[in-house]
Amino acid sequence: MNWRRYFEWNRDRAEEIPWDRELNVELHLRKPLGDSLRQFQLGESGDGLHIRQSALATGDAMYAGNVDMFIGEEQRHSRWMGQILDKMQVPLMRHHWSNDVFIHLRRLLGLKHELLILLVAEMIAKRYFRALRDGTQDPTLRAVFNRILSDEEGHLAFHIDHLQRMFAPMSVLSRGLIRIVWRVIFRATCAVVWLGHGRVLRACGVSASQFWWDSGLIFDEVAAAILSCAVWSKPAEVPDGETVKAAAA
Ligand SMILES: [Fe+2]
Ligand SMILES: [Fe+2]
Repeated sequence: MNWRRYFEWNRDRAEEIPWDRELNVELHLRKPLGDSLRQFQLGESGDGLHIRQSALATGDAMYAGNVDMFIGEEQRHSRWMGQILDKMQVPLMRHHWSNDVFIHLRRLLGLKHELLILLVAEMIAKRYFRALRDGTQDPTLRAVFNRILSDEEGHLAFHIDHLQRMFAPMSVLSRGLIRIVWRVIFRATCAVVWLGHGRVLRACGVSASQFWWDSGLIFDEVAAAILSCAVWSKPAEVPDGETVKAAAA
């Protein structure tokens, strides 16, 4: 997979987001959506400095460039969420303890374990944005959440592709132990996310058990792809090199 071509293609494809429309957020969603989105907007607004430095330290300039483009997509998500919050007249969040914990935990680790922690957020984001997209009828919100969901699928595939190669030399026992610890961290994060964002997820029609179950399925698929070297089925939105070439022609 040529990730540079993918990120360029994804950057340049039309946004298809009707920003000119007035937002018409369902009444029951307004408060929980505003409260929840503020935190996700803050979480995706980081400059990614530590992960950029770790990627550069690998000596793989191509990979470091791809990580830059990945961070750029996260920052674009943050901008879009900021635009939505602006339209909803909800002030942006400047600080949240969970964001600090997440950043500090990642900084304690080397690149491959840092990426595993990053993937916890990516996996949860996949379920979260799917819930938001399906939970509203507003065309602008649906377009934004659908595009973010599509980008997150690409992020998962990008990190899996890299991490598969990083973990492959490790013994089966080491990979098994990492999977156990990673799963505990993932599940603890799911619980924290439900406590903080359960209201909006419930308002979108997602129960606690459904969130728990679906998140677990995403984790199992991603963990199998990285730590058992199972085949990861690329999402339809992630074009292969040939498709990208055709799109660029
Ligand atoms: Fe994102
Ligand atoms: Fe992401």
